[in-house]
Amino acid sequence: MGKTTVEQEINALRNELHRHNHLYYVLNAPEISDLQFDQLMERLILLEKQNPDFYDANSPSQRVGSDINMEFEQVKHTYPMLSLGNTYSEAEITDFYNRVARLINEPFELVCELKFDGTAIGIVYENGVFQRAVTRGDGVVGDDVTRNVKTIKSIPLILSGDYPPTLEMRGEIFMPRAGFDQINQLRIAQGEAPFANPRNAAAGSLKLQNSSLVAKRPLDCYLYYLLAEELPTNFHHQNLLKAKEWGFQASPHHRLCQSLPEVFEYINYWASEREHLPYDIDGIVLKVNSLDQQKRLGFTAKTPRWAISYKFKAEQVSTRLLSIDYQVGRTGAVTPVANLEPVQLAGTVVRRASLHNADIIESLNLHENDLVFVEKGGEIIPKIVGVHFEARNPESAKIEFVQVCPECHTALIRVDGEAAHYCPNSNHCPPQVKGRLEHFISRKAMNIEGIGSETIDLLYQNNLLVTVADFYRLNFDDLVGLERMGEKSASNIIEGIHQSKNITFDRVLFAMGIRYVGETVAKKLASALRNIDAIKTASLEQLLEIDEIGGKIAESILAYFSNGENLQIVESLRSAGIQMALAERENVSIKLSGKTFVISGTFQSFSRDQIKELIESHGGKISSAISSKTDYLVAGDNMGPAKLQKAEKLNINIISEDVLLTIIELDNV
Ligand code: IVH
Repeated sequence: MGKTTVEQEINALRNELHRHNHLYYVLNAPEISDLQFDQLMERLILLEKQNPDFYDANSPSQRVGSDINMEFEQVKHTYPMLSLGNTYSEAEITDFYNRVARLINEPFELVCELKFDGTAIGIVYENGVFQRAVTRGDGVVGDDVTRNVKTIKSIPLILSGDYPPTLEMRGEIFMPRAGFDQINQLRIAQGEAPFANPRNAAAGSLKLQNSSLVAKRPLDCYLYYLLAEELPTNFHHQNLLKAKEWGFQASPHHRLCQSLPEVFEYINYWASEREHLPYDIDGIVLKVNSLDQQKRLGFTAKTPRWAISYKFKAEQVSTRLLSIDYQVGRTGAVTPVANLEPVQLAGTVVRRASLHNADIIESLNLHENDLVFVEKGGEIIPKIVGVHFEARNPESAKIEFVQVCPECHTALIRVDGEAAHYCPNSNHCPPQVKGRLEHFISRKAMNIEGIGSETIDLLYQNNLLVTVADFYRLNFDDLVGLERMGEKSASNIIEGIHQSKNITFDRVLFAMGIRYVGETVAKKLASALRNIDAIKTASLEQLLEIDEIGGKIAESILAYFSNGENLQIVESLRSAGIQMALAERENVSIKLSGKTFVISGTFQSFSRDQIKELIESHGGKISSAISSKTDYLVAGDNMGPAKLQKAEKLNINIISEDVLLTIIELDNV
C-alpha cells in the first residue's frame, strides 16, 4: 500500500471510530457491534504501529492508555475553578432566590441540574481538538491529568460543528455504581482495600500514574459548564444544548425553572428518585440561566453569586444494636464494628456500621441492645450517629471496649494522644503477621508477583510462612502442593522471590514493615545511614538528625531493632542474599555539581523520579521552581507554558532528557 492510501485509511478509521465512540458512549445508540468496533480499532492500531509518521495524540487508539509512568504537571487554570455555596434547607434556597431577585430586579430563569458526586475536571479544546484536562487542585493550579482523561470514552477528543476556537468545558468525572461494585469485588478478591464510595474510586482512578489502568476503570463524565471568550448564546441552558451538538455528554436531567415552587418540585423529585439513578448525586445545583444576569451578579471571593448547591440530607433510620465485633488490622489497630438488626437505608440493606474507636463509643454513650440512629452520608459504610435514650432498657450494660486482642488474646495498649487501641503482639498476632507478609511482597516493596492474600493465608496455615524471611526458604514443592496452584505459577513465584534479591536497600527497609517507616522515610533513612548495621545501632539523636524523622518514627525504629526476633529476621534476610546496604558511591560523579536543575513535564525514557535521581547522583541540585539561580530546565512533554516562558525570559538553558544524558556523558559541563 502506498503512503497516501495508508494515510487515507488511517484517517477514515479514525473518523469512523470517533463517530462510533460518540454514538455508543454519548448517544447510547451504537450502529455496530462491539466486535466490529474492536476489529476497526485493531486495524487502526496495526496501521499506526507500522506507520509511526502518522502518529496523532488524539487518535481514538490513544484511549487505550499508555504504560509510561508519569507524575502530574501542575497547570494554572485559565479561569479559576471555583466551587459553589452550599445550602441544606428550603429556607436557604428561598434566601438565594430572593437575593438574586433583589440584585437583578427583573424576571429571571434558573437552570436546575443534578449535582454529580465525583471529581471536577476542566478540559481545554483548541480548534475543536482536546488539548489538556486539569483537576481542580486548589482552584488556581491543578494536576494535568490529560492522558488519564483521554481514556474516558464519553469525552470527545475532537469536536464537530460550530464550537468556539478556544473552549474550556468543566464537568464531573464519576464512576457509575455498577462499575464501582464490580471494581470493589475485584479489589477484595485480590486482597486490596475496597474504595469507600464511587467518588473516591473516581478521584483515585484519575490520579493513577498508569493511564492504561485508568482505561480499565469504568469512568464517565457529565459536562455542565462552558467557558470561552465568546459563547454561542447568552443562556447557560442553550449553551449546554450546543455543547451536546459538538459531541459532549451533558446530563439529560436539566430543567429550566421560572419560579421557586418549580425549583422545589425538582428538588423533591430528585431527593427520592436519585436512588434509581445509575450513579450517585449528592444534591442539586441552581444556576441563573442568563449569562448577562450572571455577569451582573458576579462572584464573591470563592463562589459565584449566580449559582448555589442544595445538598441532600443524609438518610437516617433507627435499628437495634445486636453486638460489637473487634477487627484487628494489619498494623494491629483494633476497630470496633457494630452488628445491627438489618434495616433498609438509601437503597441497600445495612447490617454493620463502623464505630471507629473507643472514643466514639464513649461519646455515643452506647449500651448493649440500644436502639440506634444510623446514617449513610458520602461513605458506603454507614455510621451510628445517635442513641434513642428513651427506648433504652435501664438494665442494659454500658459497652466497654475490649481489653485483649480478639485474635491472639494479648492485652491491648493505647498510646497517649492516639484514638486507636493496638495489639502489641506484632510478630505473632495472625492478621498482623499476614499483613506484614503481604506488605513485604507488595509492588513498592519487594515486588514479588503472583502471591495473593489467599496464597499467603494457605502458606501461613501450613506453617510455611511466618516471618518475611521465610519467603526465601520456600521451594517449588511447597507451592505446587497448595490448592489451585499450577506448576507455571509456582515457578514464576520462585523466580519472583529470587529476583527480589536485586531490590535496593531502601525498598528492603520499607518492606520490613517498621511502623511509620513508609517509602519516603525508608529512602531518607537508607541514604543517611547507608546500611542495616548503622541503622540497627543508631541512637535516638542520630535518627532525629535525619530529614523527615521525628520522635514518633525514631522511637518506632529503636523499638523494632531492640526486638530479638526482628534482629533474627534481619540476619536471615541478609544470609538469603537480600541487599542490606545501599550501593557504595565509589565513583561519585561531580559532573553536575554546583548546577541547579528544574524538571518539568513527562519523559519518554524515564520517570521524573528517575531523572531526579540521575541528576542528584551526579552532584546536581533539584529545585521545584524556576528562578535566576536555575541553570537548566529539563523539559519533557506537556510542560506548562508558564514555566517555559519564565525559563526563556531568564535565559535558562532548556534541555531535553537526551541532552541531559549527553551532558552527563561528556567530560566537562
Ligand atoms: S457548576 C462556577 N454544576 O460541585 C460553577 N458543579 O462545589 C462551577 N458539581 O466543583 C460548578 N455537579 O465539582 C456545577 N451540575 C453541576 C455540578 C457541579 C457537580 C460539583 C463540581 C463543583 C462542586 C461545587
